[in-house]
Amino acid sequence: MEYKIAVLAGDGIGPEVIAQGLRLLEAVGARYGHHFHCQAATVGGAAIDLTGRAIDPATLELCASGDAVLFGAVGGPKWDDPKARVRPEDAILALRKELKLYANLRPVKVHAPLLDASPIKAERLKGVDMVVVRELTGGLYFGKPKKRWQTSRGWRAVDTLAYSQPEVDRILRVGFRLAQGRRKKLTSVDKANILETGRLWRQRAQELAAEFPDVALEHMLVDTAAMQLIREPARFDVVVTENTFGDILTDEVAVLAGSMGMLPSASLGARSLPGVEGGPKRLFGLYEPIHGSAPDIAGQNKANPLATFLSLALLLRYSCGLEVESAVVEGVVEELLRAGYRTGDIAAPDSRVVGTREMGDLAVRALKASPSPVTPRD
Ligand code: IPM
Ligand code: MG
Repeated sequence: MEYKIAVLAGDGIGPEVIAQGLRLLEAVGARYGHHFHCQAATVGGAAIDLTGRAIDPATLELCASGDAVLFGAVGGPKWDDPKARVRPEDAILALRKELKLYANLRPVKVHAPLLDASPIKAERLKGVDMVVVRELTGGLYFGKPKKRWQTSRGWRAVDTLAYSQPEVDRILRVGFRLAQGRRKKLTSVDKANILETGRLWRQRAQELAAEFPDVALEHMLVDTAAMQLIREPARFDVVVTENTFGDILTDEVAVLAGSMGMLPSASLGARSLPGVEGGPKRLFGLYEPIHGSAPDIAGQNKANPLATFLSLALLLRYSCGLEVESAVVEGVVEELLRAGYRTGDIAAPDSRVVGTREMGDLAVRALKASPSPVTPRD
């Protein structure tokens, strides 16, 4: 099959991890007989420097016209002035909103060889395997009014947390459906004791539960969730929550996996892609590691590309319908970790510490040596 992928490497370590991801993707194509047509465009701070905008309409169009977007990271101290009119982050927010990618899936798995890479006790980490479903196009990030202005008594600013029933329903349903395919447990995280949006969220979760009788639904307040995710992480299966809550909680749970450099994400919407007859359903999506641009280590060949490899695995699964290839990429990551290869962020005293490029070399080599495809498809 042929696939069209827009590649937006962005700033900081973005270009370094994406470069290795693209090598791995090419190796997948060569091994399994697929053509991934990758087209790159500039976004984030790099685009601001060039054009004054974090993303331009042609880039949005390029993304919208393909099967998937592979995204690196945006931002850096150079563009961090709080008074600046444009910010690198505008690029990713515009992509999410314009491409209607309302469901952000962040799987969190603790890889056995990394049990000691986390500051959390290994005994608490055993069996951790959850997916956080973060609402991505509404909530506090996008509600209006959203502004800052001067008054006679100094500055004022406002952000708005607003949700409509359709927005809440569609993300809750993503959570319920995911849970159906897993351990059948859904934790809906809200702040229903204080916020009206939290009460709407909880009410709709309760009402929708009737459609999914096989899923055990529980509600948890976001502050309690912040504690429980660290205290007893293995009890969670699927977690579904508001945009900002999901942003905060997923940085927290990255600690379980040993590093931000380990967590991938998929942002999906309603748009399905033409499938192969009898083949799996395919969805348009954007895939990105959840770590940021890490300006402190940018350009030093130190960044961990594994979250990008795992994001590619999600891209292959959801947007290409290539389950076998997706599992092979995940297997490659497991294999490298088992063999003791580590970038600095997850290194232990006895690790074989490698750089970003070397991890890419190792991944490509492991992929080439992976079990040969049963029936190469075209
Ligand atoms: C994330 C990031 C982004 C967010 C930033 C870069 C806009 O923190 O994907 O979690 O806040 O959503
Ligand atoms: Mg974040």
